Amino acid sequence: MDSEALDELAGQLHGEALGGRGLLQLAAATGLAAYAVWAVVLMPGFRRVPLRLQVPYVPSSVQQVANVMGLLRGRTGKTVDLGSGDGRLVLAAYKQGLCPAVGYELNPWLLWLARYRVRRAGYEGKVSFLKQDLWKANLSDCYNVIVFLAPGVKTPLAAKLLAELPDEARVVAGRFPFPSWTPSSTIGQGLEQAWAYDMKEVRRAARSGTEGRAL
Ligand SMILES: C[S@@+](CC[C@H](N)C(=O)[O-])C[C@H]1O[C@@H](n2cnc3c(N)ncnc32)[C@H](O)[C@@H]1O
Ligand SMILES: *[C@@H]1O[C@H](CO)[C@@H](O)[C@H](O)[C@H]1NC(C)=O
Repeated sequence: MDSEALDELAGQLHGEALGGRGLLQLAAATGLAAYAVWAVVLMPGFRRVPLRLQVPYVPSSVQQVANVMGLLRGRTGKTVDLGSGDGRLVLAAYKQGLCPAVGYELNPWLLWLARYRVRRAGYEGKVSFLKQDLWKANLSDCYNVIVFLAPGVKTPLAAKLLAELPDEARVVAGRFPFPSWTPSSTIGQGLEQAWAYDMKEVRRAARSGTEGRAL
């Protein structure tokens, strides 16, 4: 187990112990084991992320990866996956000529796996994975942004993207569209569907007011 994750578990368990004797006793019974699994296996690295913004790991399928890459065909410039998991979309982006390709991820196990795959593929220095909260990332130099996140975070994410991305940027959303943005194009059906949004168009629609609300 990596020492960073162990430190984090120790920190979280310590915080719990300070919460009071009753809480500790309750936790000691069964809750603690469940909490340890959640903190170390399921959501390590997420202690500082507000609960409503936490998105669990669900990897993209082969078809989903192909659909996202189809919507980025012919594009260039810095490409990021917000919540990159095991790095499959970032690797696919680099293979398609998008460089630099960067993944943001907080889960240390997934970061380890993604970095291992980069080393094995010989892409070190071209593809990188940052242990950084996507909500704190500065996206002002990103031209292609991939988001495979839960529907519940789409509204705050739309606000962040509108505020930071350059006009030339394209956002590709997998599985769930942005509810109040109009896509420039889409590929696939059902769970496999992906949507592309060009920031210039999204901002024009927001300004003209035809969308009602900007976010
Ligand atoms: C639905 S998974 C998608 C993984 C990958 N993009 C894929 O399509 O295979 C979402 C990922 O985002 C990560 N994540 C969620 N919130 C995050 C945050 N605030 N900062 C960085 N990564 C985050 C999770 O750990 C998880 O691996
Ligand atoms: C993001 O980076 C750009 C360019 O370095 C800078 O101009 C901008 O102020 C930064 N934005 C935030 C929110 O830090």
